[in-house]
Amino acid sequence: AGYWSYDPGFKVTAPVESKITYIDGGKGELLHRGYPIDQLAKNAEYLEVCYALLHGDLPNQEQKDDFYKKVGKHTAVHDQLRKFFEGFRRDAHPMAIMVGVVGALSAFYHEGLDVSEELHREITAIRLIAKMPTLAAMSYKYSQGEPFMYPRNDFNYAENFLYMMFATPADVDYKVNPVIAKAMDRIFTLHADHEQNASTSTVRLAGSTGANPYACIAAGIAALWGPSHGGANEAVLKMLDEIGTVENVPEFMEKVKRREVKLMGFGHRVYKNFDPRAQVMKETCDEVLEALGIDDPKLELAMKLEQIALEDPYFIERKLYPNVDFYSGIILKAIGIPTSMFTVIFSLARAAGWISHWLEMHSAPFSIGRPRQLYTGETRRDFVNIEDRK
Ligand code: CMC
Repeated sequence: AGYWSYDPGFKVTAPVESKITYIDGGKGELLHRGYPIDQLAKNAEYLEVCYALLHGDLPNQEQKDDFYKKVGKHTAVHDQLRKFFEGFRRDAHPMAIMVGVVGALSAFYHEGLDVSEELHREITAIRLIAKMPTLAAMSYKYSQGEPFMYPRNDFNYAENFLYMMFATPADVDYKVNPVIAKAMDRIFTLHADHEQNASTSTVRLAGSTGANPYACIAAGIAALWGPSHGGANEAVLKMLDEIGTVENVPEFMEKVKRREVKLMGFGHRVYKNFDPRAQVMKETCDEVLEALGIDDPKLELAMKLEQIALEDPYFIERKLYPNVDFYSGIILKAIGIPTSMFTVIFSLARAAGWISHWLEMHSAPFSIGRPRQLYTGETRRDFVNIEDRK
């Protein structure tokens, strides 16, 4: 036996101190650098939130202009990186491509490998935030067999992403719908950071070995992919497809109660009253559906599930409420983003949080993350020759 505590799932363990994000799960409060998430989502642009996550405060005008200029300068990716894309099958999941190409950035930007230099670390953060939309859109274009679109820096961050996703070289005068661009920017903000969640903890753990930041972020993308984490937004839509129509909801709910399936997009490890991101996301969802005049039976089905779950004692007793991924999946579907891109969009937005935590870790001395275990295997026994083994 050791002297360490046994805490599977890290339910009560805090391995780090952090000044970036505060969550009070009981109150449903989420603050980035002290600013409430609903205020940020409604009033700030995503890149301003990125600046605050990285630097501690929202930028003043001069800092904002400078930061936006720097991000704009780094949106393009090295031409040889497209060869990485070409190595994938066209039907590869875009998250599989993202794990590969983001890790591959370490083969292009060598200064990122020298993690001991503060300046290098900062440039890496800018590069990453700037290139994520480009790489994300490329992973989609590749799956469609369409040419990659170069980033356009006359568009803002969210507009540029939508442009690279949906424009083709023939669209010389491409216009982005402002309602969609605003919703996209808000989705980015609502996913920007969430303290020591599974993927951020993965980035920190990988980073604690001194590994280069692109490799650490690739590890974060891998952790995010799972359906219990960022993969949930995609899983919500798959679940809606499986249920099919409103009439099948009661039968599906019975399966949930028999613990055969989970109601995806519901429940959270930390929020046990409500997810403050989900509240803003729901408002945005309503705005988008109304502005686009969308009347989709899948969305009607989602609303029915939400209503039943909020009234059913099974969910009330277990404090299961819709989380951010429930509504983000619905908005993304409404604005025409294919389901396989949902988690990619989450990773694009969360990259700002990951790199902020990685930078924070490097700003002070840290030890390698090395958990212990509760050993439950065989006690000591002697070696047995192969002819004597059972
Ligand atoms: N549907 C049905 N039952 C559920 C659900 C759900 N979505 N989530 C939890 N439960 C039940 C669970 O079976 C358990 O019941 P009992 O006590 O009777 O055994 C009880 O609620 C407590 O659940 P838990 O598994 O101990 O909770 P956790 O904190 O370990 O898990 C979670 C949190 C988010 C992994 C889980 O709620 C879940 O799998 N939700 C669905 C996936 C999802 O939407 N994930 C996105 C989370 S938000 C964005 C992100 O983090 O990426």
